[in-house]
Amino acid sequence: EFHQHPKALSLSSDGAFGKFDRQQLQRGFQVYSEVCATCHAIKQVSYGDLRELGYNEAEVKAIAAKAQVPEYNPATGEVKQHPGALKDHFPPVVYGGAGSPPDLSLIAKARHGGAAYIYSLLTGYADQAGYKNEKGEELLKKFPDAKTPDGLFFNPYFANLNIAMPQPLVSDGQVSYKDGTKASVDQMAQDVSAFLVWTAEPKLEKRHQTGWPVLGFLIFATVLAYMAYRTVWAEKK
Ligand code: HEM
Repeated sequence: EFHQHPKALSLSSDGAFGKFDRQQLQRGFQVYSEVCATCHAIKQVSYGDLRELGYNEAEVKAIAAKAQVPEYNPATGEVKQHPGALKDHFPPVVYGGAGSPPDLSLIAKARHGGAAYIYSLLTGYADQAGYKNEKGEELLKKFPDAKTPDGLFFNPYFANLNIAMPQPLVSDGQVSYKDGTKASVDQMAQDVSAFLVWTAEPKLEKRHQTGWPVLGFLIFATVLAYMAYRTVWAEKK
């Protein structure tokens, strides 16, 4: 098996106490909007949901209003475009290139490795000639017929090594972050991966938080049961 295990990526949303880093999610949304949105939709997300990233109502409305959202009229069979509103979801993306870009809303859940996989994929484009895996084996020596076909791109993190997506994050400063963070390729890849964790599970923090009262109750119930046991058996020595 030649395809590479994802690189490590640590995000503030990891672990049982994890919380999203809103600044990072906003940067990730900026990368998504300026780079990925040309090819990939995020249809599970509504414009109103963006308030959870820490944008205020006016900012979210302005983001929505820039988009054209198609609306199907069942009476006439017509599809009309209207500027986005809070309740609208991100519209489908018309893509004319090779391959078919999947909707990214749930990709962090759908792919083994989640955010670390996305991060690795984005930063993992490589030259196939001379490429060595973690064991130091050279791909083309081991699999001489594994040459990437024309029109596809070699990426050791992709399941079959040859991906139809051209390297989307190519140069530092490809986006200009509003919060002044230096937009290295690595930073942009981390930020958009964090953003896609949020799109796949916007209620992650709620899930993390609900566990604690449950655990507290279970400990309390255990103590109570133990005290009841002691009381019931107190005389029977
Ligand atoms: C596939 C992310 C930009 C075209 C994918 C996949 C991810 C992804 C996670 C799924 C890989 C898999 O199946 O495991 C991103 C992100 C982008 C971005 C985060 C922005 C930073 C783009 C752009 C294009 C594009 C700009 C078009 C020029 C595609 C295509 C596929 C794909 C065609 C299907 C690849 C295949 O199945 O061979 N992308 N993408 N992506 N993406 Fe992107």
